Amino acid sequence: MDEQQRTKADSGAVAREADLEPTYTDKAGNVVKKRILTGDRTTGKLHLGHYVGSLRNRVKYQSIYDTFILMADVQALTTHWENPKILKESVREVALDYMAVGLDPYTGGPDDQTKAKIVVQSHVSAIAELTVLYGLVTPMSIVLDNPTTKAEAQQYGMGGEAAPAGPTEEKTDVTLITYIEESTIPQLTTEFSELGEIDANDIVLASRELLKTMDVSQAQEYQQTKAAAGRAAEAALDELSELIYTLEQSKTLRKDVRSLIIRHKRTAGIRQMTYGFLGYPVSQAADITFVNAHLVPVGEDQVPHIELTREIARRMNKQYGGRRRILVEPQALIGGATIKGLDGNAKMSKSLGNAVYLSDSDQDIWSKVKKAVTDPQRVRKDDPGRPEICTIFAYHQQFNATTEPNIAAADLNVPAVEETAQMCRTAGIGCVECKQNLAAKLKAMLDPMRERRSKWEKDIPGLMDILKAGTGRGNEEGNATADRVKTAMHVDYWK
Ligand code: TRP
Repeated sequence: MDEQQRTKADSGAVAREADLEPTYTDKAGNVVKKRILTGDRTTGKLHLGHYVGSLRNRVKYQSIYDTFILMADVQALTTHWENPKILKESVREVALDYMAVGLDPYTGGPDDQTKAKIVVQSHVSAIAELTVLYGLVTPMSIVLDNPTTKAEAQQYGMGGEAAPAGPTEEKTDVTLITYIEESTIPQLTTEFSELGEIDANDIVLASRELLKTMDVSQAQEYQQTKAAAGRAAEAALDELSELIYTLEQSKTLRKDVRSLIIRHKRTAGIRQMTYGFLGYPVSQAADITFVNAHLVPVGEDQVPHIELTREIARRMNKQYGGRRRILVEPQALIGGATIKGLDGNAKMSKSLGNAVYLSDSDQDIWSKVKKAVTDPQRVRKDDPGRPEICTIFAYHQQFNATTEPNIAAADLNVPAVEETAQMCRTAGIGCVECKQNLAAKLKAMLDPMRERRSKWEKDIPGLMDILKAGTGRGNEEGNATADRVKTAMHVDYWK
């Protein structure tokens, strides 16, 4: 955990695994299982990154906690709204992945209550309703400053703070731009360099805007004369030399221009986003609270969303709860691992094209594993290797007889993790053999999953019945929560 995470844990948003009590005693004195809710955007089939980050733990948690799993199809549309056709197939693929990894689903039967409830977000209307109500107590600042949405916005080309968008589409006059580029720009762009891509146009527009509204005291700060401030601003600024002179002379103006450009860029990025995308964390707060989940098993990137959920729950409780607590403040449960892509990229992701899918065939997997980067300094087989920097070794650490019951059961004739490291360091094993060992382990892990998947592939209507049953339970929970919230908000005219 880095420093930032530790502070987050201290703020209460992240549960410490060691402190976890899986049960609590309710008002009637019954000991009940705590509830967890987690979810996935349904934008395609799931990969090993999802598996080590979350799915593996879900399988473990499903017998310990009362489990809800949300297929976040509306959230998927916040980034894929132009391509809704992916939804149907993705929902089916993700559901098959769930069955494959061994989630034991609630199917609606009376002895099924404690099983994992798989809920389809778009079909729980209370989630949409709560999103609107939570929006009422959500300050814009939290939404705008959310680091996860900002990073995602950039990933999906919606612009973030450092987006190359200029303040406006308008271009100032060409002579001025050329002059600034040729004379002043090298000095200015160094000073502005951390703003990302800016150009003369950004600088001119921002300085103009500032100088236009300049008053006498500001004129002095900008080292301009009183007369300049008194003159009709626009006329004054159309004089090229004046603008350049002021920019060059005044540190204060440059500082103000800089903040203005930051503001412009930020607005430009946000302007390209949809309202739905910007607001999806609020909707995620509804995802979590519609079942009043206590714990949310997620990756670290999701912690800002859990913090927002807690903030919303606190505000709702304080504003409308009186002495009653209407919503539970959930905690993130960060037990998952992250795994690099086989291309060595820090993240495995579909968009980077470096993912190994749970549904990949052995041939697919081998062709990916075969090409994976190992220690670049290990050129020949008898060069000693450095497992700590090798992607394949990182996979050996994640997938082995200790972490995976399926691998243990297969009783493969492959070295254990420490042995693998030792053999690599002493050039006792070549990279190709080491990769073959990994492929053998992945096969052992995935084979039983493939079996379950193919069984469900033959019974898609049965699979859909599971989603319907889980969604039905979701609606019961969601309606009860929406009812409670609306009553607390005095939106209960007929009661
Ligand atoms: N935002 C999550 C992700 O991108 C998916 C998600 C949607 C989720 N709703 C949720 C996760 C509720 C946990 C709880 O992975």
